[in-house]
Amino acid sequence: MEFKGFDENFSLSGKTALVTGAGAGIGQAIALMFARKGADVAAADMNKDAAEATAKQICDYGRKGVALIGDITDNKVVERVVSGAVAQLGKLDILVNCAGVALLDKAETLSADFWNRTITLNLSALFFMSQAAGREMIKAGGGKIVNMASQGGIIALDRHAAYNSSKAGVIALTKVLACEWAKHNIQVNAISPTVILTELGKKAWAGEAGEAMKKKIPAGRFGYPEEVAAAAVYLASDAANLVTGSNLVIDGAYTIQ
Ligand SMILES: NC(=O)c1ccc[n+]([C@@H]2O[C@H](COP(=O)([O-])OP(=O)(O)OC[C@H]3O[C@@H](n4cnc5c(N)ncnc54)[C@H](O)[C@@H]3O)[C@@H](O)[C@H]2O)c1
Repeated sequence: MEFKGFDENFSLSGKTALVTGAGAGIGQAIALMFARKGADVAAADMNKDAAEATAKQICDYGRKGVALIGDITDNKVVERVVSGAVAQLGKLDILVNCAGVALLDKAETLSADFWNRTITLNLSALFFMSQAAGREMIKAGGGKIVNMASQGGIIALDRHAAYNSSKAGVIALTKVLACEWAKHNIQVNAISPTVILTELGKKAWAGEAGEAMKKKIPAGRFGYPEEVAAAAVYLASDAANLVTGSNLVIDGAYTIQ
């Protein structure tokens, strides 16, 4: 392939993106930063008010913002969300799988309900979203998928049996999709943050556990949603056309010790 160059400011102008979990936290930061970089964005979330608020902010940036409401653990919702994004944005260049839960407990008492809800959303829904979006991208001749994994996908964390299993699955799935779809010009990458200061992050790491965790992170702090969004912008941009199957870790050096 001939080198065609790319925008060195990682512009997403002319691109369309679908972001799950876009009503809050990291997903919202990604949807808004994508819009600031010039993309039209479909904000998918089960929280109607939150999805609509994100879509409104995208419109305030002068981009097309669309709210797609529903629980993506239902495969019919997955089909509706992906086809809705294609219909309303005209095409689908980028999928960001960000919706996730952290339901934590000691392994010996972790309920089947916590286990199943975690795997069903964090791993299974992420796969079916990727499959539905991937089919569209194959037809269109290419695309980018960014999967939200976690530091928990590569190291052990207390009370994280279900969560870490789901995120290790996301990292493995990212590699398989990257290999299978490279020939279709679809790049699939994961991002693995440490604790990020969102509702989910604050709840999972409240109090003593959080203070102890911060001491173990060489950088000495947790992250902000925008620091994750910046990585998603890069991976979604043409600058990352040869980057696929990678897991970009954003953790202040925690997991390399
Ligand atoms: N915050 C952290 O510390 C941290 C660290 C590493 C990875 N992550 C991952 O980043 C992602 C986002 O985390 P966050 O902290 O922004 O979470 P958050 O709880 O702040 O936001 C999650 C959003 O997803 C939506 N959502 C939840 N279940 C859904 C469903 N079934 N269908 C549709 N939408 C649904 C929620 O309504 C919410 O708006 C998750 O996959 C999480 O595992 C978070």
